Amino acid sequence: MLDLILKIWRQSHPEQPGQFVTYPMSGVAPAWSLLEVLDQLNETLMQSGQAPVAFDSDCREGICGSCGLLVDGMPHGQAGVTTCQVYMRRFHTGQTLTLEPFPGFPVLRDLVVDRRALDRIMAQGGYISVNGGSAPEANSIPIAAETAAQAFNAATCIGCGACVAACPNGAAALFVGAKITHLSLLPQGQPEAGRRVQAMVAQMDAEGLGHCSNHGECAAVCPQTIPLTVIARLRRQYWRAWW
Ligand code: FES
Repeated sequence: MLDLILKIWRQSHPEQPGQFVTYPMSGVAPAWSLLEVLDQLNETLMQSGQAPVAFDSDCREGICGSCGLLVDGMPHGQAGVTTCQVYMRRFHTGQTLTLEPFPGFPVLRDLVVDRRALDRIMAQGGYISVNGGSAPEANSIPIAAETAAQAFNAATCIGCGACVAACPNGAAALFVGAKITHLSLLPQGQPEAGRRVQAMVAQMDAEGLGHCSNHGECAAVCPQTIPLTVIARLRRQYWRAWW
């Protein structure tokens, strides 16, 4: 069992100033996930009449993208996984874990941020409007295996926002690049590829998200290991769409 110190950002309202509050935690099992530690802390806080720490989670298995936090200054706290997959066995007794909400998004409460900007970008083009009908016979539209693999890899983006949180510019380029790559590599997504990229980039600008300047922090923390090449594809498609 571990004894840990949690230093957690507490903020009761978007308009109120926040502050770090320190919570000693003892008897933490190495097999617990970070979210289970927060669950345990919240049980204790509620039993003593205090407000629990607000944080987001849903699937708790790395596929919904809702649980993002900064852990010791790093989105999700560990490369290649989401916050819900960070386990206490990585830490040693006496260690302090600093938990903060993702930067780049407005704080709603404690560790919960408003990531609807990503939803609004998706609404501008993160879909295909071709009527695909029922599922076609698998070999009726030949697609190279490498192309299918690239599209599938890009489609694994779970929209957690870690790329925005990690980027010094607060850019959503890796997120948008993943969606553009996922949809435009396959034949069904190509007819509206130009309109899609223009609309999604315009919405990204409207949300006040920054632009990529090749830091690469986004790809380094992406739990789905989406590569920087999707940003190169985004740029190529964007300029091709204008010309
Ligand atoms: S709770 Fe779904 S990815 Fe963490």
